[in-house]
Amino acid sequence: MTIAEIQQEILRMKKEQDVCILAHAYQGQEILEVADYMGDSYGLSVQASKSKCSGVIMCGVRFMAETCKILSPDKKVWLPNPAAGCPMAEQLDLEGLRTLKAEYPDYTVVAYINTTSELKTECDVCVTSSSAVEICSHLENDKILFIPDPNLGRYVAEQLPEKTFAFYKGGCPRHIVVSAKDVEKARADHPDALLLVHPECRQEVVEKADYVGSTTGIMDFAKKSDKEEFIIGTENSIVEHLQFACPDKKFYPLAVPLTCMNMKITTLMDVYNCLKGRGGEEIHLPQNVLEGAGRCINRMVELGG
Ligand code: 13P
Ligand code: SF4
Repeated sequence: MTIAEIQQEILRMKKEQDVCILAHAYQGQEILEVADYMGDSYGLSVQASKSKCSGVIMCGVRFMAETCKILSPDKKVWLPNPAAGCPMAEQLDLEGLRTLKAEYPDYTVVAYINTTSELKTECDVCVTSSSAVEICSHLENDKILFIPDPNLGRYVAEQLPEKTFAFYKGGCPRHIVVSAKDVEKARADHPDALLLVHPECRQEVVEKADYVGSTTGIMDFAKKSDKEEFIIGTENSIVEHLQFACPDKKFYPLAVPLTCMNMKITTLMDVYNCLKGRGGEEIHLPQNVLEGAGRCINRMVELGG
């Protein structure tokens, strides 16, 4: 079968089975072409809560499929490749969180959505990169324990100097490999380009950017801008998608290692096999996790962003 034939079969089966396909923007082009919705973590959460289909295939990483299940517990939710995890989401376990909370007893615990559902049961509110500043600004408590990404946390803290932040020592193993040296080189190679970066990058990179935002934020900024060249400081699929969307503009990766193999592990064949009923993992979560993590995620959706 060709890629086009597999895609046709996926489109036919998802309609027949009343399944919608949600895809994070770090997925490859061939998956985005069969998806009903493509977006960043916040957009996927909202879409998951709105979808009218009885089943959802979440093309992304495990915490995204779990978030989808928590927001739509009556739906069947599948992760097409069970090995697709996010290393950052695994960095802090419940025991570690409890130790941190004991150190900062009067702090509100803000969990980046890149955390396990189990961890979210003991956090106060969830945020994504696109909603973090707004949600933290709405919190009554001025003391915030931000877990697990200190880079996103520090970026949020800079926007909200009136609040006091404490951080964990986690971080995205992909985004943190980029350094100020990469910025210098990219700027020298493309002097007319704007630098757009994700807040999971290190502070030394974020402070040199022309725009800082989520995956969708970066894509929207580049599409609307009247500039013609952009250096993209996030997962390299975004370079490819923007080049498809804006063929008259030029997009350059900030660094070659900015490729998330955890996201890339999901293939078009995984989606196909999932619909055929011979692959993928249906997400099941215990009731206490559905309720506890649901409180944390629903608070994010209520506070908006
Ligand atoms: P956003 O999709 O919210 O920009 O986050 C990027 C990411 O790392 C997803 O895991
Ligand atoms: Fe996790 Fe980083 Fe990959 Fe996002 S880019 S899924 S945070 S490892």
